[in-house]
Amino acid sequence: MEDDIETDEAFARKLDLEDPLAKFRERFYIPNGNIYVDGNSLGLLCKDSEDSIHNVLNEWRTLGIGGWLEAKRPWFYFAEQIGAMCSSLVGAEPNEVVLTGTTTINIHQLVNTFYEPHHDRRKIIADELDFPSDIYALRSILKLRGMNPDRDLILAPSVNGRILDENDVVRLMDEEVAMVFLPSVLYRSGQLLDLRFLTEEAHKRDIMIGFDCCHSVGAVPHYFDKWGVDFALWCGYKYLNGGPGSTAFLYVNKKHFGHEPALAGWFGYVKEKQFDMSFRFEHAETAGGWQISSPAILGSAPLEGALKILLEAGIEPIRAKSLKMTSYLTSLVDAVLSGNPFNFSVGTPREVARRGGHVAVEHEEALRIGEALRSRGVVPDFRPPNIIRIAPIALYNTYHEIWQVVRHIKEIIEKREYERYSKQRKAIS
Ligand SMILES: Cc1ncc(COP(=O)(O)O)c(C=O)c1O
Repeated sequence: MEDDIETDEAFARKLDLEDPLAKFRERFYIPNGNIYVDGNSLGLLCKDSEDSIHNVLNEWRTLGIGGWLEAKRPWFYFAEQIGAMCSSLVGAEPNEVVLTGTTTINIHQLVNTFYEPHHDRRKIIADELDFPSDIYALRSILKLRGMNPDRDLILAPSVNGRILDENDVVRLMDEEVAMVFLPSVLYRSGQLLDLRFLTEEAHKRDIMIGFDCCHSVGAVPHYFDKWGVDFALWCGYKYLNGGPGSTAFLYVNKKHFGHEPALAGWFGYVKEKQFDMSFRFEHAETAGGWQISSPAILGSAPLEGALKILLEAGIEPIRAKSLKMTSYLTSLVDAVLSGNPFNFSVGTPREVARRGGHVAVEHEEALRIGEALRSRGVVPDFRPPNIIRIAPIALYNTYHEIWQVVRHIKEIIEKREYERYSKQRKAIS
């Protein structure tokens, strides 16, 4: 346990009183007054997003097709403008980020664009703890390109089923590797990888490198330009609070703007000439060039309001609070829930530089304890085999909520409450 952390309720209250970001909570809707610690899966709706959705609906009602150019934020430029809003969160220039597609579509778009196998250099490195959709996409890309995924997709091994050692990834970067594509934060353990180190090592060997940053953007600052990352993508619905299935983002380093996008579509066209309707594809030399279709304005609108709050709060203060909260939670689990009869452990790295925005609390009865927590009005999520993921979100969670989560877990074990629940998983847990 960290020295300066105390386990009593008064200490949690004190941390809340000292919290410079506490004022943002009232701009969010907290469902049913629950303790919502699942913002790493689906962030909550804020009033600013609700306003931006209403604006778009209003403009559709009153302007019809005119909204493409006459809306307050013209829909024709919406994707580029919201991308620009997001760019400072990832250390990019405004035209290096665009709001488009979905995470998995953007993987197809960017990996296909930058995967250029030649001679013996044809392998892609991912890792064995990856999110499944990324692996499905990589395997299908290799198949479509005439490669053999069983041979050409290399999964960096985990040290212990929870975390990766970046040096193990580097050891795999040989002259047969064309690309490395990794997550920024592992979705189960919450380990934050050293993106700068991995990028440097890949580039020393002439390997392209890109990242899936779904579990870090909005919680952790990134410096893509400074690090020289080639490309990245991330969803809008976790720490960015863009709503279920909202539009995603992609980043292309400006040094690659001249590169032809692999999946061409008319919204990637040079904007001034898109409506010339020429058959010869001329892509915009910005991240916008990697768009395919008309932007889904209704699925994008919430991000305008949500990003407004994130920028107002600032990504550095958000990261500072997030780390303070995850440290506090980890210390409470150590102090209150380790040892008999509780037997919980923390699977997330202790070092702050290796930690994303959530904490993986492990227990062999994680599934049923998660159910018992939900009955008590606490919303975490479960990831097999034994992980309760708890994400204290800097913009809307309190330290007192974290303290309560731990108290609830303690009582659930003491009263063996979890035994009332089925071991059968629901479709979504
Ligand atoms: C790390 C990661 N990659 C990819 C995905 C898939 O995202 P989408 O459904 O937006 O394609 C998710 C979804 O949660 C994810 O967490």
